[in-house]
Amino acid sequence: MTEWVPTGIDEEVPSAARVYDYLLGGGHNFSADRALAENLLKVLPARDMARLNRQYLDRVVRYMISEGITQFLDLGSGIPTVGNVHEVAQKLNPAARVVYVDNESVAVAHSELMLRDNPNAAAIEADMREPDVIFANEHVRRLIDFSQPVGLLMVGVVQFVPDADDPWAIAERFRAELAPGSYFALSAFTWDNAPEGMRAAIEVFKNSRDPIFPRTYEEILRMFGDFTLVEPGLVYTPEWRPDRASDVADASRSNLYAGVAIKG
Ligand SMILES: C[S@@+](CC[C@H](N)C(=O)[O-])C[C@H]1O[C@@H](n2cnc3c(N)ncnc32)[C@H](O)[C@@H]1O
Repeated sequence: MTEWVPTGIDEEVPSAARVYDYLLGGGHNFSADRALAENLLKVLPARDMARLNRQYLDRVVRYMISEGITQFLDLGSGIPTVGNVHEVAQKLNPAARVVYVDNESVAVAHSELMLRDNPNAAAIEADMREPDVIFANEHVRRLIDFSQPVGLLMVGVVQFVPDADDPWAIAERFRAELAPGSYFALSAFTWDNAPEGMRAAIEVFKNSRDPIFPRTYEEILRMFGDFTLVEPGLVYTPEWRPDRASDVADASRSNLYAGVAIKG
């Protein structure tokens, strides 16, 4: 068994973390994950969706650092790949602190390996539907000072939280914990561009541990609560402060809305 495969993993059941890793060209996935990804690619441009979401995350972290954010709580952080949050952040500010949170053990095991020699970053296995468990975690308490501004990241994850678990209330609970001046970044699958493709994708993900729940613009917008969206507001991922104007072509193809908001 290789070091990144934790014990107790059911390799036959695909996970979002490993499907995403495969779509981004990573090597931490099993054949069931690759099969799901290939089925997904038949109904949605999933490789572009993953890449564009990851690029949005990179821009968000650079933006937050430029705004003076020095600590990040990354919910649904995924399997480490290119441009991980702590790498982007610590390159710009070596003192930046990051806690990664994921409920998938391959993602957490691999993150822990990567962070072995990094005192300013940690990975924990926890479910974002349990905010209080996360706030009480020893690494969160050690690395995140909630009396100071925090960069809260919920990037590419809320589509895995069903309405029944009230992602709006979960987002509210996290927002409530943040000091004024904190930033909240969120991206999520939407129906709005390709409803038929999304319907088919829902079926594809039904056979995984992470069924998906795409949402409308309004539903995603509500997750920001009373925070103030920074320019350009809630848009498709490539439209959020692109590095080059040419990157924005065919933005709706990303099928994820994204924004960043500040607590006043
Ligand atoms: C598509 S990946 C996104 C990774 C990274 N945030 C990014 O945008 O590049 C979604 C991740 O969310 C995780 N996830 C799904 N539901 C979760 C939950 N309830 N709590 C914590 N993590 C969750 C999955 O395991 C997966 O690693």
